[in-house]
Amino acid sequence: MSKEIYYPNPEFSAQARIKSMDEYWELQNKAKADYEGFWEAYAKEKIDWLEPYSKVLDESNAPFYKWFTGGKLNVCNQCVDRHLKDKADDVAILFEGDRGDVEKITFKQLSQRVNRFANMLKEQFSVKKGDRVVLYMPMIPEAAYAMLACTRIGAIHSIVFGGFSAEALRDRIEDAEAKVVITADGAYRKGKPYLLKPVVDEALKAGGDSVEAVIVVKRNNEEIAWNDIDNNYNELIENFSDECDFEPMDSEDPLFLLYTSGSTGKPKGVQHSQAGYILWAQMTMEWVFDVKKDDVFWCTADIGWITGHTYIVYGPLAAGVTTVMFEGVPTYPDAGRAWSMVQEHKITQFYTAPTAIRVLHKMGEDEPKKYDLSSLKVLGTVGEPIDPPAWKWYYEVVGGGKCAIVDTWWQTETGGHMISPLPGATPIKPACATFPLPGIMAEVIDQDGTPKEVGETGLLCITKPWPSMIRTIWNDDERYVKSYFGDAVKDGKPVYFSGDGAVVDEDGYITITGRVDDVINVSGHRMGTAEIEAAVKKEPSVAEVAVVGTPHEIKGESIFIYVVLKEQGDSSKIKELVNAVLSSEIGNIAKADDVIAVSGLPKTRSGKVMRRILRAIAKGEAITQDTSTLEDPAVVPAIQQAVADSK
Ligand code: WT7
Repeated sequence: MSKEIYYPNPEFSAQARIKSMDEYWELQNKAKADYEGFWEAYAKEKIDWLEPYSKVLDESNAPFYKWFTGGKLNVCNQCVDRHLKDKADDVAILFEGDRGDVEKITFKQLSQRVNRFANMLKEQFSVKKGDRVVLYMPMIPEAAYAMLACTRIGAIHSIVFGGFSAEALRDRIEDAEAKVVITADGAYRKGKPYLLKPVVDEALKAGGDSVEAVIVVKRNNEEIAWNDIDNNYNELIENFSDECDFEPMDSEDPLFLLYTSGSTGKPKGVQHSQAGYILWAQMTMEWVFDVKKDDVFWCTADIGWITGHTYIVYGPLAAGVTTVMFEGVPTYPDAGRAWSMVQEHKITQFYTAPTAIRVLHKMGEDEPKKYDLSSLKVLGTVGEPIDPPAWKWYYEVVGGGKCAIVDTWWQTETGGHMISPLPGATPIKPACATFPLPGIMAEVIDQDGTPKEVGETGLLCITKPWPSMIRTIWNDDERYVKSYFGDAVKDGKPVYFSGDGAVVDEDGYITITGRVDDVINVSGHRMGTAEIEAAVKKEPSVAEVAVVGTPHEIKGESIFIYVVLKEQGDSSKIKELVNAVLSSEIGNIAKADDVIAVSGLPKTRSGKVMRRILRAIAKGEAITQDTSTLEDPAVVPAIQQAVADSK
């Protein structure tokens, strides 16, 4: 493991909330000694309670943990209203469109627009507390208004990433039994308009019967079809008052659902709750990004992912800072786009994915040097392991050697950061997530809870419940227990297993090694191999399929598919066919880089596909495993040949 250490910038440390490792350990030891007391102090300090809670942590029905039970709050109040006293005219959302159009929305304006939206949902569409609202939106301010409007009235939003197909959208609408869908005609990408609304039409054509209304925001004014169920947001919204009382919500009422992929079956609706989620969203903004009053925070994620929920909308707004929302891509019109935005808006924290860093590095090694990036204080990365060369470029060239890089490990299910450097405290080892945040009990253990030896890969588990954790899988408590609490125990109690492997070094630093389950991570997008396989099986010429992930220079991992065709023979079109079905069943993010027709898959005599062999072949590695136990060992060289022929 790397011995290189990068110490925090002393000037930064001096003003940071957590200034040294001594302070870090003091907090962490406090949490270990009095877990509930630790959290209670922050809950009291950070949240505007409408009614006090009676219990900090209720473990009586584990693993269905409850936090701050009995308390009442409203997350929209926490993000918007409570800032109106002293921040009304500060910029809450700084929007930049793909084509460079900029709009600055103050907290006052945000409050008015959210209130109108909330009134519209209530009065026009009878949306009530507990109803599900699906958002299929581009990155425009109305997406944030819609989220906060739902939150204000107690409706549960479920955002579906705009890159998902009509099929995927319909599945999610149906699973959540959504009452309303909010979308836009389209948006702009790389200088050109694209459409979203037709995907909603397609999704609702063959299902989604629970949906009573579709609300369409106009963004690009392209021609779209209007159906009976559709409503023009821009016309309608004018009819509603910009004052709207917020609904007092119980700490444990659901806040939102967000579907994510697992190692088996269909995507699962991860359910988050109110108080614990917003508390941790705000605290991690303060600790990990160390945001201060006048900061301009830019997270480049899409609101369709958890990163966009927590670090574009809820976290920054709860912390009362300006959040940047960007419609476009950082490579358009050129590789300097992101850096010119940092210069223009004096961005103080920049948070992106390793894939984006690798792309920008490749496209413009010296590009950042053309811009004044002196406003930057903290750089962040998330979503996948970063490699040391990308890390160093980010540190030296983008950060000018003076910004800490926070390599934040977390998941849809954790709600917010779990393992990350603290920019004013942690001596950083490149490409290493370092230590659990104060209050987070992350451990690398065996299935039986034994800590792994230094340098040995183990299961990355969270051994105590934390406030922003997943509460359940929507409509499927059993799957929740099985997916997260079925793999590891500590002191006889099931503990949360993340699905990731990790290793601890001699200094106690944690490095994430990647998923150990059948989940692959392409450009930070999480996909289940089972889900991809189910989609590929819908291609009529395919008899059998096995999907693996394989390392990719830019994307981290790419999708590698082996198929056995029903009729052997011409397989020249198979990649096109398979990618067409993936694009329509899941979306373009699920397209495979390699689709190889093989005569058979390596199976044990009991019929289990040996993925380890398939992964090794995809990587071009020698097979070290004994293949004599396979039903037909001859398939191995045949597959190797087919892969070699495809190159
Ligand atoms: C999976 C979670 C968390 C928001 C974005 C993705 C991987 C996440 C890191 C990191 C190495 C990381 C893990 C995790 N991951 N952050 N800093 N280093 N791997 O959320 O879609 O729920 O995916 O992303 O494998 O389990 P997600």
